[in-house]
Amino acid sequence: MNTSPSLAPTQIRLRGYPAGAVTDDTWLMSHDPLPALQPGEIRVRIKHLSVDPGMRGWITPKRSYIAPVQPGEAMRAFGVGEVLETASKYFQVGDHVTGFTGVQTEAVLDGRQLRKVDLSFAPARNYLTSVGMTAFTAYFGLLDVGKPQAGQTVVVSAAAGAVGTVVCQIAKIQGCKVIGIAGGAEKCSYLRDELGVDSAIDYKHESVAQALKVAAPEGVDIYFDNVGGDILDAVLMQINRHARIVVCGAISQYTDIEHARGPANYLQIIAQSATMQGFTMRDYLTRIPEAFMSLMTWQSTGKLKVREHVLHGIDSFPKAFQMLFNGENLGKLVIDL
Ligand SMILES: NC(=O)c1ccc[n+]([C@@H]2O[C@H](COP(=O)([O-])OP(=O)(O)OC[C@H]3O[C@@H](n4cnc5c(N)ncnc54)[C@H](OP(=O)(O)O)[C@@H]3O)[C@@H](O)[C@H]2O)c1
Repeated sequence: MNTSPSLAPTQIRLRGYPAGAVTDDTWLMSHDPLPALQPGEIRVRIKHLSVDPGMRGWITPKRSYIAPVQPGEAMRAFGVGEVLETASKYFQVGDHVTGFTGVQTEAVLDGRQLRKVDLSFAPARNYLTSVGMTAFTAYFGLLDVGKPQAGQTVVVSAAAGAVGTVVCQIAKIQGCKVIGIAGGAEKCSYLRDELGVDSAIDYKHESVAQALKVAAPEGVDIYFDNVGGDILDAVLMQINRHARIVVCGAISQYTDIEHARGPANYLQIIAQSATMQGFTMRDYLTRIPEAFMSLMTWQSTGKLKVREHVLHGIDSFPKAFQMLFNGENLGKLVIDL
């Protein structure tokens, strides 16, 4: 075991909990040396970072599914990296691992919190993208919570994003009619022309309620909700009996997350005997191998495409974070370090 601490790694730390929108001032860059390894720990060089809307919830001191990041701590992030040094019997130098690595170039991490990844199945970055957390979220959210059946109509919001693109394609694989909602003509063309959805609604330039009446006169059986807010309310007015609302995320509410508002039209849940169910990926951790196999199979047979939006360098993190909220990412947003 090599116990020499490494020189000058870079960390991006949370300066303090933001009120409202996250800005560059939310973060603090440091170059603190790493401590020596304790038993069970590994030193990891982080190669790829995932940038996710859910991070907004992690920097809010409000009850959630995971404890908030503390001011001064390195920002939490999923990453993939290579083991440089080990005091864990489960990891060898040269292994690749994924899990919460944090927004940092190198880190000493508890080996029990990380999962080994096999680069003979997929390149390192894919463990954050095509076979990463967002793809697994799409898989379990649609199939387990949404329970699609062939011929049913599925509506997906933030449809051109990391989770949404995978949901749209899995719904097509299940034989459903798919309507994607996204911001802008480019994203809508991508959904129609590249991913084969039946219709795409540009919520920035048309009324979702009106466009949905045209695209789905038969009504909506499953709504996979990534955004909440007005779009959720518009879709609720057009759900069918026994519809399933899959509450995956609510990005429209994250900027003022302390005052997130629920759906005004929730009485439709009663009127249509519908269900509205939230979930997080932690409900499905033991079933990751199943999702991994299905996603790999669909990708290798050309049924599923995953688009990556790659930025470079740890200092691109503040900008990357804001891109999610401005709709500037085209696919799964990651940073190569
Ligand atoms: N439950 C879970 O376990 C879980 C796991 C992962 C992600 N999620 C949730 O899933 C959702 C999508 O995450 P992702 O990683 O796939 O992100 P993403 O869709 O790749 O990126 C976020 C997208 O949201 C859209 N957006 C931003 N502000 C919006 C607003 N005010 N109204 C409508 N759309 C808005 C933007 O696309 P447009 O250009 O189309 O506006 C943006 O590109 C998020 O809500 C996230 O929190 C949940």
